[in-house]
Amino acid sequence: MNYKTCEYLNSLAKHYKCTRIDELFKVDGDRFRKFSLSIEGLTLDYSKNLLDDSVMTGLFNLAQEIKLPEFIRQVFDGEKVNFTENRAVLHMALRGGSRLFKNEVLAGLQRINDFADKIRSGTWIGCTGKPIRYVVHIGIGGSHLGPEMVVTALHDYARKDLKAFFVSNVDEKNLQTVLQEVEGEQTLFLIASKTFTTQETLFNANKAKEWLLGRVKDKKLAIQRHFVALSAAKDLAVNFGILPENVFPFEEWVGGRFSLWSSVGLVINLMIGNDKFAELLEGARLMDEHFLGAPLKSNLPVILGLVGFWNINFLDKSSLAVIPYSYHLRKLVSFLQQVDMESNGKSVNREGRLFNYRTSPVIWGGVGTDSQHSFHQALMQGNNQLTVDFIFPVLEDNESQRLLFANCLAQSRALMVGRCQSEILAGLDDSNRLKEVLPHKLIKGNVASNLILMEGLTPKTLGALIALYEHKILVQGVLWDINSFDQWGVELGKKLTKSILPIIQGDFGEECLDSSTLGLIRRRNEILVK
Ligand code: F6P
Repeated sequence: MNYKTCEYLNSLAKHYKCTRIDELFKVDGDRFRKFSLSIEGLTLDYSKNLLDDSVMTGLFNLAQEIKLPEFIRQVFDGEKVNFTENRAVLHMALRGGSRLFKNEVLAGLQRINDFADKIRSGTWIGCTGKPIRYVVHIGIGGSHLGPEMVVTALHDYARKDLKAFFVSNVDEKNLQTVLQEVEGEQTLFLIASKTFTTQETLFNANKAKEWLLGRVKDKKLAIQRHFVALSAAKDLAVNFGILPENVFPFEEWVGGRFSLWSSVGLVINLMIGNDKFAELLEGARLMDEHFLGAPLKSNLPVILGLVGFWNINFLDKSSLAVIPYSYHLRKLVSFLQQVDMESNGKSVNREGRLFNYRTSPVIWGGVGTDSQHSFHQALMQGNNQLTVDFIFPVLEDNESQRLLFANCLAQSRALMVGRCQSEILAGLDDSNRLKEVLPHKLIKGNVASNLILMEGLTPKTLGALIALYEHKILVQGVLWDINSFDQWGVELGKKLTKSILPIIQGDFGEECLDSSTLGLIRRRNEILVK
């Protein structure tokens, strides 16, 4: 990166690569106050990172140098920042976070609310006269991960007389397993697809249609009462057989991975109710307003983005484990994987030039405390250069929650301090074995982490948390000078599937394949005839 401030940050990085985080705490007892921030029900503690005032000042200067505030303003003003698709990026408008499209957004939300009311009140009846009790959401990627994550996270707010299921995978086992759990005549299928061309979604939607039509008399009414579409491609949804009035559209300026705020989130609305859905939107809107209005130095998404950028590009730590200490947040990692890696997994700048610095972190993780008994060993003693985002929603004060919090803090502290020789010596009964076991017991520590405390796991704090990460990704995209809003990389796989499928089916085209791909197709055939 050719920014003036990068030289300064590079010189600081040389020093911080040989510094210990716990030493920084020893020389400055005030780190938590200095390097933490509470906004909209979220407290970010970034003090357990390899940084200090000088680093933060450098990063804020860099943000000014690259004109980050101007870019943020352009996004919220509806400029076509997704220039490769000639689109604005305005999902914030869906939660009132942009001054644009207010009336259209309100009208769309009203339609969704009215429809959800009808389903929940039993006014909307299925083709045999029974109310809806099961909702099957069919969609993939952005048309799946957000809604499923939010419905799972807000389980405590969900209606008990409605059950939601999600089908995304083209593996028929996904749909089959779900269909075993529902009664067709009381099931509503939500077909969520921005383009309404996605192979997996159309495959599953057609199978669901076949399944339902196979068990009811009035086929026409079955489609009318049991299928709705959540899509920006109304015509294609209507071609599929869905009534125009059962298509809930959204605009092109809503990217797939940011679409849970649109009609794609209907399942959320159905499960938690209109008021709670409004609270989810409000939490995100408040974070939008903060992001747009707060100075860089007290701007939560900006700080989270800058700290991540420092870790990735100056300290060479580009693996990010996300570990929520919350059973209900168990779907968060997959959601963030898509939002972050599909947005920022790029290696060409906005002018189309290839570059070789790192961009999107490799995001992975799992729920604590389970993760402690699977991959934390590698966090503690492995050699990969990684950082961690811990997320802890503060719920009620009870035994389980105290235990959970103690575990979460213990992990973040253990990663920082490690375990030194004297500590090991003190705990060793047989000093003769010291030489043998010492190297195995040493934990070097110095693993950087953030910890985000949430004031409860409510629709509002969840909305704020999602918006925080969305904006963090935007900030990092500007730092890397990339278009965070397209996803051309995903297209290649889709195209190749189309050319490989006929060969698997026994048609022509083998000559264009490599020996590995072809060998595997033939081996599969051999297995099938066994
Ligand atoms: O996987 C790529 C992608 O284009 C995502 O960006 C998108 O969320 C997903 O496919 C599903 O697309 P659609 O909503 O059009 O079915």
